[in-house]
Amino acid sequence: MTIPATIDAVQEKLAETGYVCGRALATVVFLSLKLGRPLFLEGEAGVGKTEIAKALALCLDRRLIRLQCYEGLDASSAVYEWNFPAQMIAIRTAEAGGGADRGALQEELFSRDFLIERPLLQAMRPDERGAPILLIDELDRSDEPFEAFLLEALSDFQVTIPEIGTIKAPEPPIVILTSNRTREVHDALKRRCLYHWVDYPDFDREVEILHAREPAVSETLSKQIIAFVQGLRTEDIFKKPGVAETIDWAKCLLALDVVDLSPQVISDTLGAILKYQDDIAKISGGEAGRILDEAKARVEAA
Ligand SMILES: Nc1ncnc2c1ncn2[C@@H]1O[C@H](COP(=O)(O)OP(=O)(O)OP(=O)(O)O)[C@@H](O)[C@H]1O
Ligand SMILES: [Mg+2]
Repeated sequence: MTIPATIDAVQEKLAETGYVCGRALATVVFLSLKLGRPLFLEGEAGVGKTEIAKALALCLDRRLIRLQCYEGLDASSAVYEWNFPAQMIAIRTAEAGGGADRGALQEELFSRDFLIERPLLQAMRPDERGAPILLIDELDRSDEPFEAFLLEALSDFQVTIPEIGTIKAPEPPIVILTSNRTREVHDALKRRCLYHWVDYPDFDREVEILHAREPAVSETLSKQIIAFVQGLRTEDIFKKPGVAETIDWAKCLLALDVVDLSPQVISDTLGAILKYQDDIAKISGGEAGRILDEAKARVEAA
């Protein structure tokens, strides 16, 4: 599938997969596709950063390759490794067979049969559907040396494996990087990318997202849920609920056949939106009632 020709088309295509995308985000996505530049998305947890890569892969019908970053992630786990146990077995088998040709064995041991391709190498392989989408998720969790390595990898999209040779992507993958900003990512890397801060959606957009994901939730309840969650986000709590939590909570309320939010229902189900005991303790009881009253007033005024 070719890339959408306009920003509106990007919005429409993403909406078809259930991803609700504001104009600003659609614009950077469009530009990133058009100019072939990596897209760097930063934002709070659960605001749809990872999801956009999945949605794009769906609507462009491309393969999605995900590199989940973590502390200690190094180049070999990101690009390729040799299958050491399989190599050992092959050596033992050759020895048992006796009189193995050393040269042939050596060549076989370092052929593609024994190569474990990790996400960056996978993303360089040709694909008949077109360049894949490479999601480099939660980059802030990796260490700086890995970031430096990535900077180079993103500029030429080729890998040299001494025993095999150089592998180059026929067409560079569509790269999406995400970060929760637990640390600042280096400027040099950011400079190569188009940048967008994914914020919490406003009221109408969050209602739209909830409707796209959980159409069974009634309009009144949806509005109450969103107004309450948005109210919660203005409170002084340790971990604010993201869109993911809104959707989860709505699913719980649906399962409990709730039609109207009440302080009791909220305190019984707070675990779906708040994940820290201190936050739960702070909000349950009187605070929940106050935020709910404000939320209901907001829904009525709208
Ligand atoms: N704009 C949106 N349209 C549709 N669904 C959305 C949108 N934003 C978030 N969601 C929903 O919220 C869920 C969480 O989104 P996602 O996992 O992409 O968050 P994230 O920003 O990557 O969070 P984290 O930083 O915790 O990884 C998704 O499964 C998706 O269902
Ligand atoms: Mg994510």
